[in-house]
Amino acid sequence: MNELEIYDIVGEEGFRRLVAAFYRQVPKDDILGPMYPADDLAGAEERLRDFLIFRFGGPQRYIERRGHPRLRMRHMPFPIDMRARDRWVELMGNALDEMAFPPEVDAVLRHFFEVAATAMVNRGEGLGLRS
Ligand code: HEM
Repeated sequence: MNELEIYDIVGEEGFRRLVAAFYRQVPKDDILGPMYPADDLAGAEERLRDFLIFRFGGPQRYIERRGHPRLRMRHMPFPIDMRARDRWVELMGNALDEMAFPPEVDAVLRHFFEVAATAMVNRGEGLGLRS
């Protein structure tokens, strides 16, 4: 399955529901909750949603509003160690479970989130050449 076909299958509504299901868990999470802006969770939700829509073949709203993603750089202010990375993947996994997207779509998204989340790690042991 081509990544850019995912938007055609999931649609605006699918990504909206997925990201809402992720952010619903964030405020009560002991690791992630404190990292996200309590007064702008709706804004954070919109940024992740627009990014995913752009990344998987939908409209380019993210780029128009935020420019080049530079996600690793944008995450530097947040202390992301392996525990935070694993928690992020876990909450997104819960959100994907809830969506029950078609299996090929689910597999591509899960793989993408795991790889992207690992790339965001910026604190802790074993960073090696990436630090
Ligand atoms: C590894 C664990 C991660 C943590 C702890 C984390 C945490 C955060 C935090 C605290 C923000 C700021 C919220 C805001 O105001 O927008 C943020 C922004 C963002 N994150 Fe993550 N994130 C993680 C992984 C990811 C992954 C895997 C992706 C890609 C799918 C991603 C995509 C984004 C995007 C698009 C933004 C908004 C960037 C902007 O335009 O300013 N994050 N993240």
